[in-house]
Amino acid sequence: MLDLAGRTVVVTGASAGIGAAAAERFAERAAHVIVAARRQAELEALVARIRARGLSAHATTCDVASPEANEALVRFALEKTGRLDVFVANAGVTMVELFAKAKLESFEQVMRVNYFGTLYGFKAALPHVLERQGQLAIVSSFLGKRGAPTRSGYAASKHALHGLASCLRTELLGTETGVTVYCPGFVDTEIGKKAVERNEAAEAAREKGWTPEQAARVLVRAVERREREVVTPFFLRMVLRLDFLAPGLVDRLISRRFRKALEANPPSRPS
Ligand SMILES: NC(=O)c1ccc[n+]([C@@H]2O[C@H](COP(=O)([O-])OP(=O)(O)OC[C@H]3O[C@@H](n4cnc5c(N)ncnc54)[C@H](OP(=O)(O)O)[C@@H]3O)[C@@H](O)[C@H]2O)c1
Repeated sequence: MLDLAGRTVVVTGASAGIGAAAAERFAERAAHVIVAARRQAELEALVARIRARGLSAHATTCDVASPEANEALVRFALEKTGRLDVFVANAGVTMVELFAKAKLESFEQVMRVNYFGTLYGFKAALPHVLERQGQLAIVSSFLGKRGAPTRSGYAASKHALHGLASCLRTELLGTETGVTVYCPGFVDTEIGKKAVERNEAAEAAREKGWTPEQAARVLVRAVERREREVVTPFFLRMVLRLDFLAPGLVDRLISRRFRKALEANPPSRPS
């Protein structure tokens, strides 16, 4: 178990959604939270909310797609609290479009934020986290485990994070530090509205999801327990079991759910 009291926890992508809810939750555990994202006003409002409860928080702007900005974020955490124990790579963007139609720039942009944003953060944070026997954490997705129509750019960026986490874990063997990967299903946040590329029919297939607070609770518990990987909700854990046994069947089931998008925009086939 990782006792979070008095520890410094950096959360990227904390100006909204799961990251903001997780920051509040880490602060409730008596951690010093360092919240980072690009929108300063939202971060400052979050810090004010946390401090109003007598808890500890500091905000700094950071575009995770820049290695220098991640280094500055780590320096900020050290300057404000003198330590860095947990780095939660949560910042993320999505794209929703069929592979055949999606723009190359969208794939690159999603990779820069979701994959390289995490990699840069971990590079900068790792020596300090190791020194404190802390933990690294990634907010991936169910789509980091399993693909679906119109999610190729997003799912590939999340799959890449699982490869990174799995290699890091082998390199960190013998230390107390591990890598926790959280894979939520749908969570009701702004992510779909802000998608780098958006296929309206596919977005319509989006179901009502968990609240950010529900996801944040699971994430914080997973970090405290130094879990390797957590997938929620339960139903999606069952889908992954089925995927292991009958991947072709899961392809068909998932495609059916996105039928509207596929019917509205059939993929062009080579003639
Ligand atoms: N919502 C879901 O259904 C769902 C499901 C599975 C996994 N996830 C994952 O959960 C994580 C959080 O997403 P969310 O659903 O909470 O979405 P959200 O409400 O849109 O929040 C995304 C956060 O990432 C930040 N961000 C985006 N680009 C950034 C950049 N270049 N540099 C720094 N921060 C950046 C945003 O802040 P600024 O705009 O202020 O920079 C915002 O704080 C993501 O990794 C997402 O892939 C979400």
